[in-house]
Order: sequence, then structure tokens, then C-alpha cells
Amino acid sequence: MSTEDKKDIENHQGLQESIPKENNNDNINNNNMKEENNKNEDTNQKKEEEEIEELNKSNSDIEVNITTYTIKIVFVGDSNVGKTSIIQRFCEHKFEENIPATISAAFQMKKLKVDPFTEVNMNIWDTVGQEKYRSITRDYLRNSDGVFLVFDLHNKKSFDSLNYWLEELNNSDINKNCVKILIGNKSDYKEKEIDDETINKFSEENGLKYLAVSAKEGVNIESMFEIIGADCAKILQEKADENENNNQSEKNKEDERFIIKIEEKKVDEDIKVIKKNACC
Ligand code: GTP
Repeated sequence: MSTEDKKDIENHQGLQESIPKENNNDNINNNNMKEENNKNEDTNQKKEEEEIEELNKSNSDIEVNITTYTIKIVFVGDSNVGKTSIIQRFCEHKFEENIPATISAAFQMKKLKVDPFTEVNMNIWDTVGQEKYRSITRDYLRNSDGVFLVFDLHNKKSFDSLNYWLEELNNSDINKNCVKILIGNKSDYKEKEIDDETINKFSEENGLKYLAVSAKEGVNIESMFEIIGADCAKILQEKADENENNNQSEKNKEDERFIIKIEEKKVDEDIKVIKKNACC
């Protein structure tokens, strides 16, 4: 190997050594910075996790007070309009083509949330539509908070019978502010026997909300119960507020009477002192 070659190799080695040295320092600095960054990230992440945990804790500490009302809902309407089918669709999520006629009455229960703070326990009564058994329906209407008047959109006779059912409601012991909703069932039939105008006129004249539904296809079934549940809960809430106000005003009156008594007693004592002083 020539002297020049040796020098060349030495230089080259020197060069090779010097590069990693500088790189090493850089790497150490970079690594230190990375570690520092990682530490900061870790601390930040921990902080965030602690904050989230704290927030979750405080959220779970907030108690949501849910008010539950128990309401009685009764179905009336001619035989075959689909009262049982509607209840079955709502409570059991099923529909039967051949369903036996209701004899006497049937009862189902279902809980429904009407808003984040209110739920209703529905006691749902299915009554008999057949004429020969109708006289007993009045008994089942007693104390009802809500009534569904059901007719079949495909059967004009069932619509004409609504006047009879309204009369039954007037003659029974339903609650004072009982919510009445008109239900036109079997909306799945393409051809209807009663036009919308006639139905709207009837519902307006009698102050009834109206909903077309189909137990077969599950159309508007959930909605009709949500509407009656919310309306009944609102009425019961107003009643409860009214009672609370009455109790409060009675309590205020008691407090007033108590204050007057104390004041009268104080005046009596003052008079006694004056009289005593006057004597001396
Ligand atoms: P009663 O118990 O006699 O008072 O009759 P109901 O009013 O309870 O009627 P029910 O639920 O027994 O239904 C009578 C018939 O109508 C059954 O054959 C049901 O399958 C059918 N039906 C009920 N709802 C619907 C519906 O939404 N669409 C169609 N197409 N048929 C229905």
C-alpha cells in the first residue's frame, strides 16, 4: 500500500468516525427531547384522564329525578275495528290475522317514557265491541285517564257508531280531564270507506285528536300511546302542582295565624307592663 493510499484510508476513517460522533450527539439530544415530549404527553394524557374521571364521577352524582304516573287507558269501539290487535302490536310487537273476539275485557300493562324526566305506567283495558256485551263497558270506563275511540277506516258503520261511544263516555265515570283520542285503524287498506274531510270534521266538532294507524303494519301505534301518555302525564302533573300550591297557601295561612297570635300575645304583655307602670 502506498503512503498516499494509507493517508486516504486514515482520512476516510477519520471522516467516518467524525460523522457518527456528531450524529450521536444529535441523537442523544433528539432522544432527550423526545423523552421530554413523551413525558409531557403522558402527563397531559394522565391529566385529561383524571379530568374525564372527575367529570364522570360528578355526572354520576347528579340524580335525575324521574316522576312516574300510573294511568288507566281504555279502548272502546265496535267489534272487529282492531282494538285487541292495536294493544297486541304495542305490548307484544305482533299481529294476528285471526284473533278471537274479546269477551268481557282484557288487561295489559306497559311502561313508557314520555320525556327524560317522566314515565307512565299504562294499565291498558281492552273492552268488548260486540253489541250484546256492551253494557259492561261502562264499568270498565270508571276512573279512566285516557280513552281511545277506535273505528275501522274500511268500515263506515264503525265510524257511525262513534256517536254511541261518545255518549257512553259522557254517561260513565271517566276522570274529569280524561284524554280522548280518535283512532282510525286499518290504514293499510288502500280504499277507505270514510274520507279525511268527514273524519276531521267529526274530530274537530268533538274536540278529539285524531290519528290514522295500522296494527297490521305497526304504523303510528307507538305514537298513539306516546301522545296519550304525554297528555295524561301533563294533566296529572298540573293536578299535582295545583295540590302543592293549595298545600303551600294553607301552610302560609297557618304561619300568618301563628304570627298574629304571637303579636297579640306581645301586645297583651306590653299593655300589662304599661298598666303596671301607671299604677306605680
Ligand atoms: P272485538 O274483540 O270483537 O271487540 O274486536 P277488536 O276490535 O278487538 O278487533 P280485533 O283486534 O280482534 O281485529 C279484528 C280483525 O281485524 C282481525 O281479523 C284482525 O286481524 C284485523 N285487523 C286488526 N287490525 C288490522 C289492521 O291494522 N289492518 C288490517 N288489514 N286488519 C286488521
